[in-house]
Amino acid sequence: MVLVSLVLSVLTYEDVEKRLRRRKSKMVTPLLVLGVVVLGILALFVYNRPESYSSIELELAQSTMEEDETLDFGSSSVTDSDLSSTQVLSSGNILSSNSTWTMVETESPVVEVKSTEVPTKSSSIAASLDHTEKPPTTPIEATTAPKAATLSPRATVIPVANENSPIVTQPAANQDPVKMQTLKPVAAVATTAPVHAKAKVIVEMVRNAVHDLNWNDGAGEMCEKNSSYITTEKLLKPFPYNDPTFSGYPETCQILNKGHEDNGVLVVLGDSHADMSKARFVKLYKDARRSYKPFPTVVFKTRWGRAMLPCRPEFPKNIEMVKSIKPQAVLFVIHWVQYINPGGRSDRPYTGPPNCCLIEGQTCKEQNMDDVTAIFKIFQEEVSKLTAMGIKVFVVDQSPEYEDMSPNHWINGDSVKVPKPHSHSSYKKEKGWLLNLIHSAVIGANATLIDYADNYSHGDTVEFTDDKGHPIMSTVGHITTYTARNYLTVVDQVVNAATLSH
Ligand SMILES: *[C@@H]1O[C@H](CO)[C@@H](O)[C@H](O)[C@H]1NC(C)=O
Ligand SMILES: *[C@@H]1O[C@H](CO)[C@@H](O)[C@H](O)[C@H]1NC(C)=O
Ligand SMILES: *[C@@H]1O[C@H](CO)[C@@H](O)[C@H](O)[C@H]1NC(C)=O
Ligand SMILES: *[C@@H]1O[C@H](CO)[C@@H](O)[C@H](O)[C@H]1NC(C)=O
Repeated sequence: MVLVSLVLSVLTYEDVEKRLRRRKSKMVTPLLVLGVVVLGILALFVYNRPESYSSIELELAQSTMEEDETLDFGSSSVTDSDLSSTQVLSSGNILSSNSTWTMVETESPVVEVKSTEVPTKSSSIAASLDHTEKPPTTPIEATTAPKAATLSPRATVIPVANENSPIVTQPAANQDPVKMQTLKPVAAVATTAPVHAKAKVIVEMVRNAVHDLNWNDGAGEMCEKNSSYITTEKLLKPFPYNDPTFSGYPETCQILNKGHEDNGVLVVLGDSHADMSKARFVKLYKDARRSYKPFPTVVFKTRWGRAMLPCRPEFPKNIEMVKSIKPQAVLFVIHWVQYINPGGRSDRPYTGPPNCCLIEGQTCKEQNMDDVTAIFKIFQEEVSKLTAMGIKVFVVDQSPEYEDMSPNHWINGDSVKVPKPHSHSSYKKEKGWLLNLIHSAVIGANATLIDYADNYSHGDTVEFTDDKGHPIMSTVGHITTYTARNYLTVVDQVVNAATLSH
């Protein structure tokens, strides 16, 4: 390819450009302009309907139809065949508005990801991933994106993939989070080289994963305006927040298995990470329907790129809703690293409510450690009130997240190079200050901590793909719908906790 383009460009220069320059004809300029316009139009067509022009996209569309039916990653209970990416792939523009996962106002839509270039947004996320071990105490200037080398893992030992490592100890729904924590191994015990070869990752799988973001599919209808999950929300009065909101990502309320509150109610609160979890609930719902088992009503109250934390009005508003509805269980899914980025001066006098950063995913001056302390203190207090009412509360931990986990970084032309997997324990060390805050608030509130990474790890190794070669992640920090549906069994206990037995 490189050679051909080199030859072509030399030929164009020698044969076309040089000759044209010597011509005096008045037609040269208009003809050139016409040529460029035609090229532009062609490019637009290719951009909008890549599957008609690119053999990769074509293969991709075909491969989705013959996607696998079975999985052997863990247990046989995780099989499911409805791979939902076909829809995204068959249409050029579906990624435009609501299927994007974008979180910060300044970032570009997922459509950008179609090119093999890193989306602009990555740099800001990358900056957040570049956090050093300690929370900053002095103002920090905007960081630049880290070099890949600083993110690359040190883990060299891959534990046996099929072995059910100690991490899969099934925690009971109400198990003390402290105990759950201690059940997890700190480091892998594997001493041998991998004996389980994974399937090769092919370009189509990677492209599929990058597009596999249709989170809302099958997760029920949007709540009506008069739904009690909306009418019982209560904003704090007097309204204390200075809250410039971005209307591009409105608050949403989606309701799965509507009208079956007599089976129990589960309220899921959070951001795009709550949305990315929906596919697992949809699968459990379908399974329950198939076997005539009761399934609770599940209400998803989410807003992209917004902290469901005390620094935003949505938090107290929805806590009031939960107190009034009294569901059996509540699940918080928060992308912590996006919102807890203190960079403000420590000597600033604190006034509540605590501050969020204006632009998420990077260290900011609006938030200092006093804000962070207050965020976790109020979070713990409010969650304690819910657990004291008998509501079972689950909180999703911050799972390891590195820029190179996003598969769009793995493609180089027509080939895929999967990076070395990451070590969970080194992430825990790196982000210890934040994880400690999360864990102590959750434990202090009698809530249960769960970690999505349990479902794509073997021992200490955080996997990049499943055994069939499907990438775990879609775009930075979000698992694919496929991963959520088939592997996120750690949330099954939440549905169980919400289900009333008759
Ligand atoms: C998302 O967009 C699709 C197609 O544009 C539409 O059918 C669907 O209802 C939208 N979903 C939401 C949650 O707005
Ligand atoms: C909401 O309004 C619709 C009609 O617009 C009505 O059928 C429904 O019963 C109302 N629901 C509640 C909870 O009031
Ligand atoms: C947590 O639960 C224990 C035992 O059920 C109880 O004694 C304690 O007061 C609870 N703590 C909070 C903060 O609700
Ligand atoms: C997911 O994690 C839970 C909790 O650690 C574990 O019990 C379950 O076996 C895991 N499932 C898979 C498919 O990895």
